[in-house]
Amino acid sequence: MEQYVIKGGNPLVGEVEIAGAKNAALAILTAAIMTDETVYIDNMPDVSDINVLLEAIGVIGAQMERIDRHTVKINGSTIGSVSVDYEFIKKIRASYYLLGALLGKYKKAEVPLPGGCNIGSRPIDLHLKGFRALGAKVDIRNGMVVASAEELRGANIFLDTVSVGATINIMMAASMARGNTIIENAAKEPHVVDTANFLNSMGANIKGAGTDVIRIKGVETLHKTNYSIVPDMIEAGTFMFAAAATKGDVLVKNIIPKHLEAMTAKLLEMGCEIEEFDEAIRVTAKNRLKRTHVKTQPYPGFPTDMQPQIAVSLALASGTSIVTESIFDNRFKYCDELARMGANVKVEGNVAIIDGVERLTGARVSSPDLRAGAALVIAGLTAEGITVIDDIVYIQRGYEDFENKLTGLGALIERVSSEKEIQKFKLRVG
Ligand code: EPZ
Repeated sequence: MEQYVIKGGNPLVGEVEIAGAKNAALAILTAAIMTDETVYIDNMPDVSDINVLLEAIGVIGAQMERIDRHTVKINGSTIGSVSVDYEFIKKIRASYYLLGALLGKYKKAEVPLPGGCNIGSRPIDLHLKGFRALGAKVDIRNGMVVASAEELRGANIFLDTVSVGATINIMMAASMARGNTIIENAAKEPHVVDTANFLNSMGANIKGAGTDVIRIKGVETLHKTNYSIVPDMIEAGTFMFAAAATKGDVLVKNIIPKHLEAMTAKLLEMGCEIEEFDEAIRVTAKNRLKRTHVKTQPYPGFPTDMQPQIAVSLALASGTSIVTESIFDNRFKYCDELARMGANVKVEGNVAIIDGVERLTGARVSSPDLRAGAALVIAGLTAEGITVIDDIVYIQRGYEDFENKLTGLGALIERVSSEKEIQKFKLRVG
C-alpha cells in the first residue's frame, strides 16, 4: 500500500492552483448521460473517485472518452443497461447519482444501496422519498434500489434534513418529469448550483439553486453542452489551513472567494492575514494561531469536509477550542491518530475539545478517510521529525497531485511504497 512520508517544519510558501470540484464533477458526470447528444466537460479533477464513476458510466454502455487529463467527452445514447454493478457503489457512494439520472431519462434504474461509510451511517432515505414523490415505485431488493415509473410527475418535496445528495439526485430525476417540482429545505452548496447550471445548459429548467427552494419545470429531452466544473472549495480550504498551520504564506489560485467565506472568517479569527483577489486568496500566518470554536453546518456554514483540517490547525493554537460536528455521526476517528502525534484532544460524542500544544511530533499514522487523511498530512507538515501516513489511497480519492502541490510550496513530502524508500527519504532530507 502506498504511503506518504513527511519531514515537518517547513512553512508552506508560494502559489497553488486549485482543481475542479470533485463533488460537482461526480454529479455532473452522471447528469451528462441524461442526453443522447455529446457532452464535453472540462476542469475535471483527475482523482480516483472520478475515474471510478467514469468506468461505471462506461460499463452501462455510455461512450466516454478522455480528451485530456481534465476534459471528458460523454455520449449517453448507447446506454444498454440501467443496472449498476455493486463494485462501483462499494468504491464510491456517489454512484447513487445514477438513480436520479437513469430514472429521469429511462424511467427505471437499479443501483446497489450504498453501505455505511467511515464517517458515519449515511442513509439515502430522502433520495428515495423524493423519487416516490415523483411517482416512482421504489423497492429495496437483494441490496439493490429498484426504481421505475410509467411516468414521473412533478411534486412538492420537503427534505427533512438538508442533504446535498438528495437535493442533486431528486433535481436530476425531476428535470425530466412531467410538470413542476419544488424541492424545499434544499442544500445550497456550490456543487448543487454547479449541477443545476449544468442541467440548465442542457435545456433543463431549474430555478433557485443556491437557495433552500429549488423550482424545476420538467422537460422532455436534454441536449448537448460544453461545461466547465466549478473550482473545489474543499481543496482550496485544505491548502488555506495548511498554510495557516505551518505559519506559511500561500496564494491559493483558481478559486471563487465567496465559496470560502466561512473558512476565511475562521482563519481571521485564528489570527491569519487574508488578502482576497478576483480568483485567488492569500493566507499568511506569522504568529502562533489563536483558538476558536467552530460548528460544522450546511453551506454557507463551515463545511463538515473541512472539520478535520481546522481541528488539526487548532491542535497547535494557543488556548482551548471546541469543534462540533453536526452533519455526520462519526467524523472524529482521526483524533486518536492526532493524539499519537502529541495533540491534546478529547472527543465527547459529536464534540472535540482541543487544548492547543506548542508542537506535534512525527509518528506513523493511518488515514481513516479522505478529509481526515488530508488533515493528518497537515499535522505531519507541522510536526517535529518524520511522519509516515498509511492508507493514502483515501486521500487520492479527492486530491489531485496532492504531494506535488505541497512540494511546490516547500514541503518535504514523498509518496513511497516500501521501508527502503522511507529510509532513502530520511537520508535525503537529513
Ligand atoms: C456530500 O455527501 C459530499 N459528497 C460529502 O463530501 C459532504 O461531506 C456532504 O455532502 C455534506 O456536505 C459528495 O458530494 C459526493 P448529505 P452526501 O446527504 O450528499 C443525512 C467528501 O469528503 N442524510 O448532505 O452524502 C446524512 O446522513 C465527502 O468529499 C439522511 O439522513 O451528504 C448526513 O447526516 C464526504 N438521509 C446529512 O444528511 C438521506 O437520504 C448530510 O448528508 C441523505 C442524507
